[in-house]
Amino acid sequence: MLSAARNEMLTRVGPGTPMGNLLRRYWMPVAGASDLAQNRIKPVRLMGEDLVLYKDLGGRYGLVARRCSHRGADLAYGMVEEQGLRCSYHGWKFDEAGACIEQPYEEIANPNPKSRDGCAIAGYPVRELAGLLWVYMGPQPVPELPVFEPFTYRNGFREIVTAEVPCNWFQCQENSIDPVHFEWMHENWSANLRGHNGSAARHLKLKFEEFEHGFVYRRIREGGNETDPNWTVGRVALWPNAFYLGMHFEWRVPVDDQNTLSISWFFMRVPKGREPYVQDEVPAWVSPVRDANGQWIVSHVVNQDIVGWVGQGRIADRSRENLRSSDLGIVEMRKRFFADLDKVAAGRDPSGILRDPQAASCVPLPDIMRKYNVEGVPLADYDKHPLMRERLAGFRHHYGQPAEVRRAFAEAMGIEG
Ligand code: FES
Ligand SMILES: [Fe+2]
Repeated sequence: MLSAARNEMLTRVGPGTPMGNLLRRYWMPVAGASDLAQNRIKPVRLMGEDLVLYKDLGGRYGLVARRCSHRGADLAYGMVEEQGLRCSYHGWKFDEAGACIEQPYEEIANPNPKSRDGCAIAGYPVRELAGLLWVYMGPQPVPELPVFEPFTYRNGFREIVTAEVPCNWFQCQENSIDPVHFEWMHENWSANLRGHNGSAARHLKLKFEEFEHGFVYRRIREGGNETDPNWTVGRVALWPNAFYLGMHFEWRVPVDDQNTLSISWFFMRVPKGREPYVQDEVPAWVSPVRDANGQWIVSHVVNQDIVGWVGQGRIADRSRENLRSSDLGIVEMRKRFFADLDKVAAGRDPSGILRDPQAASCVPLPDIMRKYNVEGVPLADYDKHPLMRERLAGFRHHYGQPAEVRRAFAEAMGIEG
């Protein structure tokens, strides 16, 4: 249980708030690079700031304030040029750092080098990695963008899925360190939705351990033991707002205090014998969260998680909860956040920030699927692993995978679409 004041500290993300300051110290994935292939300008709202993400004709990415500094027109309706983004109202132009670099009529009627002073807008660095676009909205110096080892895995089919989740980011991230929900939400409830009685193997033992980039959780379920990879390797609640499960990452990126962008990156290695497989572009697609009647979609894994998260309210009231043994990881994670909030307030880096390019160039993570991901196995062996078998059969994580993505996946794996 937390006081209302402590809950505010964990959940508020706007500029100048303690958690807003903390989260701005990290690179955040906000879109697929392929999202900008057709429309080169995409409005985004991040941590309470209205922004536009764009790719200019010179191939540079920018993330700048959405409102033009002249008289406030919407730069989401601007024009990209060889360098920068031009406002469609009177033609002022901005570069990727947000500097105003042209004021067309002013330059004819009243040329004055000082005219652009005070006209800069917010501009934040953007980088592309693993088909994702990452942004950094914090203070200088900019930390390294961590290349998590799974981004270096080769011969895999990757895809990016986003969903708009109408609740605060922190309750989504608490789900990254909540092993018991898997038994209930994804197994027993799924069975119940299909009209069966759920009888998932019960969790018998949990362990949570902190490491440099987050927490590992380990579990033993009925029928399992301490030699199981779920115990020896575990899964990762990745600092500060992500989850790594062995074949995919999920990030919970705050849009504002009451909305979150769920953005996930999936990897599935092609079967042994189908290498080399090179994917030219990582497809990115949006997964709906409600059906035609306005009800939450409950058929897919992350959609089910979303039902859990939004059910807790727009901002979960942690002054009314009753934490028990299943929630030990959540308690540890909150403690670490409070300690890191103090560090940031004192001007220090929070956990997991990398300043050494060498260390950032490949960041290993515990990976229960390492053998499958790195070495690969023949297609016939996919059937022996429940996750691989399910993944071949269909995309069960998010509702709404486009047919063309499924086709490309099937072609990569060498199976019938
Ligand atoms: S409002 Fe953008 S140029 Fe005038
Ligand atoms: Fe889940």
